[in-house]
Amino acid sequence: MSANVETTGKPGLIGWLDDRVGWSMLKEFLSHKTVPMHRFSVFYYLGGMTLFFFLIQVSTGVLLMLYYRPSAGEAYESIEFIVSTVPFGWLVRSIHAWSANLMVFFAFVHMVSVFFLKAYRPPRELTWVTGVILLFLIFAFGFSGYLLPWNQLSFFATRVGTDIAGVMPGMGKWMLRFLRGGDRVTGGTLSRFYGWHVAILPVITFGALLAHLVLVQVKGMSVPPAAEEETKRRTPMKFFPHFALRDLSGWVFALGVLAALAALMPWELGEKADPFAPAYANIRPEWNYVFMFQTLKLVPGGEIMGIEYEAIPIILFGLAGLLLLLVPFLDRGAARNGKSPFWTAGGIVGLVFVIVMTCWGYGTLVPLYVVLLAVALLAVFAFITRGPRRTEQR
Ligand code: HEM
Repeated sequence: MSANVETTGKPGLIGWLDDRVGWSMLKEFLSHKTVPMHRFSVFYYLGGMTLFFFLIQVSTGVLLMLYYRPSAGEAYESIEFIVSTVPFGWLVRSIHAWSANLMVFFAFVHMVSVFFLKAYRPPRELTWVTGVILLFLIFAFGFSGYLLPWNQLSFFATRVGTDIAGVMPGMGKWMLRFLRGGDRVTGGTLSRFYGWHVAILPVITFGALLAHLVLVQVKGMSVPPAAEEETKRRTPMKFFPHFALRDLSGWVFALGVLAALAALMPWELGEKADPFAPAYANIRPEWNYVFMFQTLKLVPGGEIMGIEYEAIPIILFGLAGLLLLLVPFLDRGAARNGKSPFWTAGGIVGLVFVIVMTCWGYGTLVPLYVVLLAVALLAVFAFITRGPRRTEQR
């Protein structure tokens, strides 16, 4: 090493790597990062929990790719092989399926919490926008992954789901062919969905996730307007090691729950898809689409000015998605003084709509119980992780 090169002066391999990689800068950054402490601090764990399930998806997905075959003749059989012959294949597949559902759930709860805590206020507009993009991407992962086992349920649900896209005025026909890779759901659709699921969506998601996480680091954690006074009275917690260790404890707990669910309730494979069989009874999309599906079921047949009635709720859902994306730019009250009762009320109405329609779609109150259980668990975790009361030094 020449004498005029700047070095950290640390000896050995650690010093050599530090000179090249510069991780002491990261350590330095982390040692200054703090997390505000208040009665809503528990919500700061939800983004990390979503990240945990995302990492599980990537690692188990790569393992499944080693054996999965994306063709109508082999997809179902390759999964049968994975769950019956490959060592621990059944567990990996079951973890991938359970974790996908938990990731959607946690991303949704994370979004709901940052919405009501007004974390999208300036300067975090782009953190919110990248978050909404991530939510849409997660939904797309679910939709494309659902078809991959090529079983009866996934085949007919994809047929209905893509039919719905075809109703869109103007671009419907194009959308339908774009999604299916033809006029019908065939092996070609399966290969196309596989390409989206394992290549296109992951690349876009890594980009969006990187942007989201960098923005969270650059802007730091927001303090909800309702907890500003309390936060001033309490000492923030150091991110490293205290908060990071708590995050890690949550991840270990989540891993335990995930492993128990996957082992005790292995994800079913069902029957192989038969495109010539009569439409499968009880066709239902994945649970996160059920509120939209149920709304569409209530719409009568017919058309107005050349637009099918069914297209109207689809357009409205599209507009609602756009509204969600633009919340930080439209909610001026939150930006001014943290108060926006109109948006809070709108959020409550939206949430109640999603829960009621999901319960209706399933014909049971179980989705409501799941929400109540999640609220109760969050309250317990809020109590466990409440942190020191006064300005004690951490
Ligand atoms: C793959 C999905 C996602 C991952 C992995 C993720 C990850 C994270 C992480 C680790 C944090 C910091 C800790 C926390 O506040 O929880 C965070 C913060 C944040 N996320 Fe996400 N997130 C995701 C989806 C979303 C969604 C769907 C939204 C909303 C539309 C969103 C909006 C935000 C906002 C506004 C913050 C800043 C919170 C604050 O400063 O208080 N994220 N996210």
